[in-house]
Amino acid sequence: MRAVHLLLWVALPYAAIAIFLAGHAWRYRTDQYGWTTRSTQILESRWLKWGSPLFHLGALAAIGGHVLGILIPTSWTETAGVSGEAYHALSATAGTIAGLACVAGILILVYRRTASARVRVTTTRMDVVVYVLLIVVIGLGVVETIGRNALGGGYDYRATVAVWFRSIVFFHPEPDAMVGAPILYQLHAAAAWLILAVWPFSRLVHAWSIPLQYLGRPPVLYRRRWAPVRPRRSERRLPSSPGGGRR
Ligand code: HEM
Repeated sequence: MRAVHLLLWVALPYAAIAIFLAGHAWRYRTDQYGWTTRSTQILESRWLKWGSPLFHLGALAAIGGHVLGILIPTSWTETAGVSGEAYHALSATAGTIAGLACVAGILILVYRRTASARVRVTTTRMDVVVYVLLIVVIGLGVVETIGRNALGGGYDYRATVAVWFRSIVFFHPEPDAMVGAPILYQLHAAAAWLILAVWPFSRLVHAWSIPLQYLGRPPVLYRRRWAPVRPRRSERRLPSSPGGGRR
């Protein structure tokens, strides 16, 4: 085991997790008013309305797929009656759809951020770092899923990457499991830890502030300040004065 392997597959993950946790506590205590998406919807919404849902839904689906493919051991899915072939078909199909949605979404968001001058001026250095990391992680993930698993000869990442990932989560690191994985998978995982490390210092913190109360609150009613110039047909039938109009 070389020092670089320990650095990449033990030190990096734990350092990223520590920075992620401590960073969120620090940000929450020092910058609650800055805890926001820093939305630019008011500056540009034509591209945002496509890019944002494609990116967010694709990313959520991909992360859901990671839970199934990486956190759940092969033995469990086999016990549940899901064969290796069935798992492969499901992960390649769902992963391809999720990955393509993610790629389309992030490309639209990056285009919008560079093409719209008003959005461009609001872009910080941290935004650039996050975009670059997301493009690297999503790009490599899609090449793995489509290039290697859906169209190529396939790679059983559940026997290597997944074993290593679970070993980190359960605090008995097995860096050896990752050493033999193809470079694409190694780069994807290493860059993913970097996203975790910058998360608390970026606008990604908004992910923990989903406005779930919106689902239950009464709807906001917008009314005109002035009466419309020409009353609507339904309004025309209303009595104009007490005792007037139809009964
Ligand atoms: C250390 C953490 C991570 C590990 C170990 C990991 C591992 C993997 C693996 C093994 C695949 C390939 C699946 C296949 O070949 O079918 C993959 C795909 C992918 N990953 Fe990750 N990943 C991690 C974090 C992330 C993060 C943070 C993102 C950001 C959104 C991400 C986005 C994707 C995407 C978009 C794909 C392609 C679509 C899919 O198969 O779901 N990954 N990842």
